[in-house]
Amino acid sequence: MQENKALFIIFGGTGDLAKRKLYPSLFRLFRKGAIQKHFAVIGTARREWSDDYFREIITQSISSLNPTPKEIELFTQHFYYQTHNVDNTEEYDTLEKLANKLDYKYQLDGNRIFYLAMAPNFFGTIAKHIKSQHILSDHGFNRLIIEKPFGTDYESAKKLNNDISAAFDEDQIFRIDHYLGKEMIQNISAVRFGNNIFESLWNHHYIDNVQVTLAESLGVEERGGYYDKSGALKDMVQNHILQVVALLAMEPPTTFTDQAIRKEKINALQSVRIYQENEVAQTFVRGQYSQGEINHRELKGYLAEEGVNPDSTTETFVAGKLMIDNFRWSGVPFYIRTGKRMTEKGTRINVVFKSTPINIFRNKEEDIKAVPDMPKNILTIYIQPTEGFSLTLNGKEIGEGFNIEPVRLDYRHSADIIDNSPEAYEKLILDCLKGDATNFTHWDEVATSWQIVDGIRDYWDNENPKLPTYPAGSMGPIESFELIEKDNRHWIWQPDEWYKERGLL
Ligand code: BG6
Repeated sequence: MQENKALFIIFGGTGDLAKRKLYPSLFRLFRKGAIQKHFAVIGTARREWSDDYFREIITQSISSLNPTPKEIELFTQHFYYQTHNVDNTEEYDTLEKLANKLDYKYQLDGNRIFYLAMAPNFFGTIAKHIKSQHILSDHGFNRLIIEKPFGTDYESAKKLNNDISAAFDEDQIFRIDHYLGKEMIQNISAVRFGNNIFESLWNHHYIDNVQVTLAESLGVEERGGYYDKSGALKDMVQNHILQVVALLAMEPPTTFTDQAIRKEKINALQSVRIYQENEVAQTFVRGQYSQGEINHRELKGYLAEEGVNPDSTTETFVAGKLMIDNFRWSGVPFYIRTGKRMTEKGTRINVVFKSTPINIFRNKEEDIKAVPDMPKNILTIYIQPTEGFSLTLNGKEIGEGFNIEPVRLDYRHSADIIDNSPEAYEKLILDCLKGDATNFTHWDEVATSWQIVDGIRDYWDNENPKLPTYPAGSMGPIESFELIEKDNRHWIWQPDEWYKERGLL
């Protein structure tokens, strides 16, 4: 792999994200040769650490990748630590000197990646100082990577964006949505635009509905404090789910370049109907997990989790129906759902095609109106934990008579391929090194996503409708099933049935 040259300046270098995701991803890139001799990393945070201690932390954070002692030595010697208080202007001067020194030492051609792996309330201050204290290099590239949450509603996101725009142009800003780094999310475009049998049917004439499920089996774990202020709508729908919907709904880009794709994603998101308050009650459902049991394991309810207000009305589950008001999708619901403590971890997309116009396999004497429709063809895209797709088609059941039976053509990647597939963060960092913004979110996408979500949130906050609960280990409250059943449809993926049949739920 071709070597890339850059200095990484990581704000929040002692944090959990840096340790769990960034350092291992950088190491994987190092092993593959994407960064070799000409790179350096400055970790900054408040704590007083030495370079040596920082390097020990790096060594620990890559230990699960089984590095050899030689690899550890070669890799960690590129890491430097700088104690840093984000409000202190002088400390940015120290940082600037170190950056220039490392640039010279490792011959980095002035390329800089600033990574903000910390709470968003500091982003504005950091961006301002980066500019005023001349840490931006005047040769090579300057790029900014920022983590979610990008604001807590449209207004706060806009302010944040104005703040960082003071130092960086839009094409220098790389907003991470780690779902966009996932192999199968990227594969959505391959499935759609590489296969005429799908793309030519990809519209309201042939598709009955689309279902997107991002289910998690974990609860809020140690993040109760953050999560209780956020909830599932802001934590998962505003970003990951709407990004998936945009990729499924967008028009084919003319070329597969970041600019062309972004344009189409933005158009798709801008066509998502923004609901009036009275429409939210009909189209969106929230829920909170209560105590439950799965697989003979007791799970506590959300209100008993650490860091959560015992009277909290924060939702841990959301299901909803999105409508996309354009020619392609008129009348086709996109049902979405996501939640914590659901039956199983799984991200899946089900594209449900319309039935054939009539069911000709009926008895002559049967009234055509009383005969059920043919089972619908379904394209399923499995994002995680397994990766692949399946297609459900109808065939004839072997034997007497003419019974129709759905059969599933299944393609799942083998574990080997998955093991070798790069981690989302690794891909995204490499994309940023190369200046490819395809898998990052543009400000217009973020802004539109907040506008879609804000209306729903406002209704919940102002009207405080009933907050249904669902037992931990289930697929959400009954209201989620009713939401789709009132349209005469059902959720295609129901792993809870599998558990119930085996007495595990
Ligand atoms: C994050 C959310 O963005 O995505 C978490 O903040 C969630 O609450 C996580 O658990 C899910 O990501 P993944 O990759 O495990 O599906």
